[in-house]
Amino acid sequence: MEKHSGASYDEIAAKYADRQDKKPWNLYFERPGILRSLPDVADKDVLDAGCGPGFYSQKMLELGARVTSFDLNPVFVQRTLERTGERARVLQADLAEPLDFLKDASFDLVVCILVLHYLRDWEPALLEFKRILRPDGLIFFSTHHPFTDLQLSTSADYFATELLEDEWDIGKVSFYRRPLSKISRDLYHAGFLIEELLEPQPIKPPDTVTFEAYEKAMKTPMRLLIRARKCV
Ligand SMILES: C[S@@+](CC[C@H](N)C(=O)[O-])C[C@H]1O[C@@H](n2cnc3c(N)ncnc32)[C@H](O)[C@@H]1O
Repeated sequence: MEKHSGASYDEIAAKYADRQDKKPWNLYFERPGILRSLPDVADKDVLDAGCGPGFYSQKMLELGARVTSFDLNPVFVQRTLERTGERARVLQADLAEPLDFLKDASFDLVVCILVLHYLRDWEPALLEFKRILRPDGLIFFSTHHPFTDLQLSTSADYFATELLEDEWDIGKVSFYRRPLSKISRDLYHAGFLIEELLEPQPIKPPDTVTFEAYEKAMKTPMRLLIRARKCV
């Protein structure tokens, strides 16, 4: 069985990367939700795990972080390299495998935005995050909301951990859904205490912008955003 469904991006990475900075969904929902809750990164060692085309890597560099970034997909690695220049360490790597290229206790913060739901078992990745974080280090991650993703489930079993498929405008994507209780339990077992759990809503777009999903995202929990601290 596959360890992850990251191959979903094999065919669509370039299209995905080209559209990210223009989509109202990102400009008025995804990114403001992350940026208003991002822990302080100034003068911190930060890992951007599953960096995609590198928006958050670039943003955190601007905010004064020392950034290491990696992604499974070579197109995204290249885009992040182009975006960050020499200023970040950018690598190709699989989050479902040990992160041997990263030293123990060498980061203050791991940022992992919309990535962990591509892993079938995410505990090994959480344990790797714990290993590379300094004492008291933080993980800050977002994932699809398990309640809303239930709409894509064929089992309709909220408590199942299961592979789902969705049809995006650029192609099909597969990812895993876990119930909230499992998310919380797995974090605790990996040695993290949840400090903040958010269900972000969009910001109002200007009248000139058509953001069709605004009403839906105002009323439906689309994302789960968690800040958790390494505790053991
Ligand atoms: C929705 S994109 C998010 C990208 C970026 N974090 C952002 O928010 O702009 C999901 C990312 O997860 C990456 N990914 C999926 N499975 C992965 C794995 N096993 N190891 C590393 N990255 C993975 C994909 O290549 C893709 O870049």
